[in-house]
Amino acid sequence: MNYRYIGKTGLRVSPICMGTMTFGTQCDEPTAFEILDKAYAAGVNFFDTAELYPVPPQTKLAGITEEIVGRWLKTKPRESVILATKVAGAASGWFVPPIRHGLTAIDRFHIERAVEGSLKRLDTDYIDLYQMHWPDTVVPIEESMEAFDRLVRSGKVRYIGTSNDTAYGTAKALMVSRYEKFARFESIQNNFSLLNRRFLDELAELARREQVSLLPYSPLAGGVLSGKYNQDPGAKGRFSDYLKSPNRRQRLMATRFMNDRTLASTQLYLKIAAEVGLDPVTLAIAWSKQFDFVASTIIGATRPEQLDASLAAMELELADDVLAACDEVHHQILYPMG
Ligand SMILES: NC(=O)c1ccc[n+]([C@@H]2O[C@H](COP(=O)([O-])OP(=O)(O)OC[C@H]3O[C@@H](n4cnc5c(N)ncnc54)[C@H](OP(=O)(O)O)[C@@H]3O)[C@@H](O)[C@H]2O)c1
Repeated sequence: MNYRYIGKTGLRVSPICMGTMTFGTQCDEPTAFEILDKAYAAGVNFFDTAELYPVPPQTKLAGITEEIVGRWLKTKPRESVILATKVAGAASGWFVPPIRHGLTAIDRFHIERAVEGSLKRLDTDYIDLYQMHWPDTVVPIEESMEAFDRLVRSGKVRYIGTSNDTAYGTAKALMVSRYEKFARFESIQNNFSLLNRRFLDELAELARREQVSLLPYSPLAGGVLSGKYNQDPGAKGRFSDYLKSPNRRQRLMATRFMNDRTLASTQLYLKIAAEVGLDPVTLAIAWSKQFDFVASTIIGATRPEQLDASLAAMELELADDVLAACDEVHHQILYPMG
């Protein structure tokens, strides 16, 4: 297995990371354990969660996913797992204000309490990678970085990363760390898939030049690239559920991922997958992890069987003509997710 380092850290991770955000809503604890066990048995050593999970987020459920992951963690040697979680602030999130703390920002006060909550729910004494779930546009980044730095120095957290940030926000945070001698963000966890290549516009250059790793999430665009919604727009899955939701934000999320342009793009993509003889799920994940700035692609599942096609991408290297064919889809329909 080609394990890779995250940024300039000592964290050596499998090219696929198992995401957990469906645990506690779309799948129950026994199913979550089956998914985690199956990924672990296949060589996955990297697992991603967040204090606000599961999704769709509900104040009364926040934290349940970390508790499930914590109970599963007890079944494995702790040092065999690289565990990532995230601290959320409500300031620029896309849902309801998280969460049980009743706090509103990625400020010093929140970060220090949030980490204690995550450590307790995960039932561990350290977190390998602690990520800022969203940039906070109100609290000065100097304050957040100082708080993160303290967590690293205390040993509660080994390394830190960011998520859902721009090139400007990431570069500014890196500069603050450099000049203040704080721990720096070693990774950026952003949405990146064949339907959303925006990372390539500016962040890819930053990632390469600063040696910060991308941890792409939603490599299947939440399931759209499996092609199931092309076959049946009402197919059982996250976005058919979101479309029926009374929550406007969830309906908006569904149409960002599943709309005429993403479905048309997926249709072209399915043809290429068929031509090269690969399951569209396998091809989409293999595509996402093949960039030099990617350390590990974060996959998701609601059923253990779904992992067969995802994990088949773990050691798959794509030939240049397959990559060129995937690029052609993008050239025909630019930025289908908007
Ligand atoms: N930092 C952030 O803001 C952020 C945001 C999103 C995700 N993440 C992380 O990234 C992880 C993965 O995100 P994601 O779930 O959006 O990834 P994804 O790989 O794009 O979508 C995974 C979903 O696709 C469907 N699927 C998977 N395999 C399939 C198959 N073989 N056939 C048909 N459908 C299949 C399943 O949903 P259904 O069964 O419901 O269709 C599954 O939950 C999350 O768990 C989380 O750890 C982070």
